[in-house]
Amino acid sequence: MRSVNIGIIGLGTVGGGVVHLIQRHHDDYVEHYGIDLQIKRACSRSDGEAQKLGIADIFSTNWQDVTSDESIDIVIELIGGEHPATEIFEDAFAHGKHVVSANKALLGRHVEHLAKLASENGVQIKCEAAAAGGIPVVSTLEHDLAGNEILTIAGIMNGTTNYILSRMAQEGLGFDEVLADAQRLGYAEADPTADVDGFDAASKIAILASIGFRTRVNTDDVYTQGIRNVSATDIEMAREFGYAIKLLAIARNTPQGVDVRVHPTMIPATHQLASVSGAMNAVFVVGDAVGETMFYGAGAGSYPTASAVVGDVMSLADHIAHGKEVIPESEPFGHNLPIRAIEELHTRYYIRLTVEDKLGVLAETTKVLADDGISISHISQTKSEDTDTCTLIYMTHTAKESDMEKARIDLEALDSIRAVSSIIRIEDIEAWTEGAFDN
Ligand code: HSE
Repeated sequence: MRSVNIGIIGLGTVGGGVVHLIQRHHDDYVEHYGIDLQIKRACSRSDGEAQKLGIADIFSTNWQDVTSDESIDIVIELIGGEHPATEIFEDAFAHGKHVVSANKALLGRHVEHLAKLASENGVQIKCEAAAAGGIPVVSTLEHDLAGNEILTIAGIMNGTTNYILSRMAQEGLGFDEVLADAQRLGYAEADPTADVDGFDAASKIAILASIGFRTRVNTDDVYTQGIRNVSATDIEMAREFGYAIKLLAIARNTPQGVDVRVHPTMIPATHQLASVSGAMNAVFVVGDAVGETMFYGAGAGSYPTASAVVGDVMSLADHIAHGKEVIPESEPFGHNLPIRAIEELHTRYYIRLTVEDKLGVLAETTKVLADDGISISHISQTKSEDTDTCTLIYMTHTAKESDMEKARIDLEALDSIRAVSSIIRIEDIEAWTEGAFDN
């Protein structure tokens, strides 16, 4: 039996999990799949983890010792970030090695360049762990749903923000308070920007949309808005109207192009995604043949992410161990679909205004909305007990994003408005299945 040799770069939380899983399942893989996985080299900044994992004898602090090792078939890159991860990919390809990676930041922006290089060198990139961690959705889109045109990929792809929003909803707390507690408990990073401002979810939806729609969606194409402006009042109002607020990553394959965005979203409280709470992730995929599907699981963490990495390794190893040719990276983005500008979005909106409690303010704000083409479906007003302000809540009929943006600017210009405190899109979930076959 030919062994399949692995080099691993990055022995942090996920890398340690990968080493554990490969060691734990080694004999089982030999017996059941005829695959003898061997970790030949490991690289990290210091040897502490390698000592703990019992692999100090194959350890190096120099990643080139891994990428240039002639015996290695597959390089696992788990250091994250753009550099030196890019150079690791390039050097591994130049040495004829496949790369398995969890690097969403890199792949969300540079997969086109890397896929081209992989193809030229006859090797593959596999990245199941880069989107929604342990949830096997990349291979599902690539293989299991091949009989479909994928219409929509939408979901909760960031555990930190879902944890924060869930606690705000359950305990009626404000964003800052829950964020501080989440940081104390280790659910949020000391620098929470990538999570709370939506960038992490943007990378993931860019990767999934690229694979699902077979077109190039770059992270920079994704309209991105985080959850800092969502308040306990918004969550409470949403609940009264029968909605939950989630940070959704949404990609729709529409006749006008790819509609791709990350933002706080009101969805019906009865929708499956609304019941995903805490740090869990879920990805909702609509194919024209299969209809609606949903995949739920852990989007982060040592073993869930390692589970996805090892799945990728085993799929490559199956070919290598049995002398079957691994098909080089193909040109996956052939469809070249345009990206729809956010200004073209048509949806309903929830608007929360903090206004002075004086005669005519309701008429003034309503007139601005009417003048800008925003039709109102509901108004409510509450007086703040300890200030001289009122909260005005509007729910709108379907409006165009560019009109809503003009209305926001016009509202902010009114003297009686203290703040346009939040504007939250109400997702048209019926549109997610547009184009599916009738069963
Ligand atoms: N920080 C991410 C999250 C996990 O909170 O889901 C890694 O992408």
